[in-house]
Amino acid sequence: MAYSAKIGPSILSSDLACLGRECVRMMGCGADYLHLDVMDGHFVPNLTFGHPMVECLRKSVGQDPFFDMHMMVSRPEQWVKPMAAAGANQYTFHIESTTNPGNLIKEIRESGMKVGMAIKPGTTVEELAPWANQIDMALVMTVEPGFGGQKFMEDMMPKVSWLRSQFPSLDIEVDGGVGPDTIHKCAEAGANMIVSGSAVIGNDDPRSVIALLRTVVAEAIQKRSLDR
Ligand code: DX5
Ligand code: ZN
Repeated sequence: MAYSAKIGPSILSSDLACLGRECVRMMGCGADYLHLDVMDGHFVPNLTFGHPMVECLRKSVGQDPFFDMHMMVSRPEQWVKPMAAAGANQYTFHIESTTNPGNLIKEIRESGMKVGMAIKPGTTVEELAPWANQIDMALVMTVEPGFGGQKFMEDMMPKVSWLRSQFPSLDIEVDGGVGPDTIHKCAEAGANMIVSGSAVIGNDDPRSVIALLRTVVAEAIQKRSLDR
């Protein structure tokens, strides 16, 4: 099995005044990577931060943590080079935000980052499928992008199952409303990269929540490999 269970806290839910410390704390609690939500107030009705913040974070947390940039922006082409220079590892853009995904994939690769492609709840998985062999990760949104703390949309799970059946070794990420109550659905459907904001960061014991999420996903992966 080419993929493994990875848990990436979404630091959007943390105390943003202490972001560097929060990132270090999450990695210390067993996070596999960090999911950083970039919003431009245009593609989504909310505003967060850009590459200058990422550059500071990278300096503060060191080279190790893997930064998955969730780019909820209208012109993703614009930020590829600045994000790469700031220390981003993966550039996850929304297919809805570009007219030329092929070119964007090429630019992201040339800048040395991994490529993630995201779809909003209203976008069909067939729109992503033609690109699946050119990307490192597919992100199936399980809420409307824009805010943490929303309710998990279980009706997105068929998209995940379909992707897993068609692309057995692709990294598949879910994002939005994922926590101990909803992780089983995600794991059964075949997701292996799990973003969790409020459920991890809002918990008094993030280490236990991260461990639980990873165990559920790892067991589902194991089961799938035995069934094959
Ligand atoms: C929403 C963001 C998510 C969000 C997840 O647009 O992409 O990453 O922070 O937070 P929870 O897990 O609280 O839904
Ligand atoms: Zn996100």
